[in-house]
Amino acid sequence: MERRRFLTWLCRTIAALLSAVVALPGIAFILAPLQQRRKESALVQRLCLLDDLAPGVPQEQVLTGNRRDAWTLYPRETLGRVWLVRRSGPEMEPAKAQVDAYSTICPHLGCEIGLDSSGKEFYCPCHKAHFFFSGELIPTNPQGEKNPSPRAMDSLKCHVVQDDDSGEWWIEVAYQKFEMGTDKKIAKG
Ligand code: FES
Repeated sequence: MERRRFLTWLCRTIAALLSAVVALPGIAFILAPLQQRRKESALVQRLCLLDDLAPGVPQEQVLTGNRRDAWTLYPRETLGRVWLVRRSGPEMEPAKAQVDAYSTICPHLGCEIGLDSSGKEFYCPCHKAHFFFSGELIPTNPQGEKNPSPRAMDSLKCHVVQDDDSGEWWIEVAYQKFEMGTDKKIAKG
């Protein structure tokens, strides 16, 4: 009797272990998109050389890479766009050069921020929001209408880094998306 009970217990334990071995990869597969989303909260990329930027002249750059939508992988897609503005001139040594980066996503409702027709301001065409090259809001547009954006353009972490092999100086940006329609800059999770 004791022996039969032991064998029953042994069979159930082995069955449970085998089930776990079979189920674990499946669970990992199902949870993969969630882990990916957590990893994607800040995307760090080198976008261009410092020498490619003229002081005071905004330049748009695109972040590309693999995009995962649930369980599907899309290779080499556009993951985001940024405006880079070099603040310091060529007289400044590269290690101390100052470059600012801003998301092109409008904090109002998410349209793409470009340049206005004069080329002297940032401009969102959807509801006519104007911004200085510092990213700050311009309170009213040329027609006297109030700026609809609740906050300034979203600045991004940006560093000038030297490549170990080539010695070239690159602009590296940590790209993130932020909540829209609020005066607070809140990173999307
Ligand atoms: S989305 Fe840019 S002004 Fe409305």
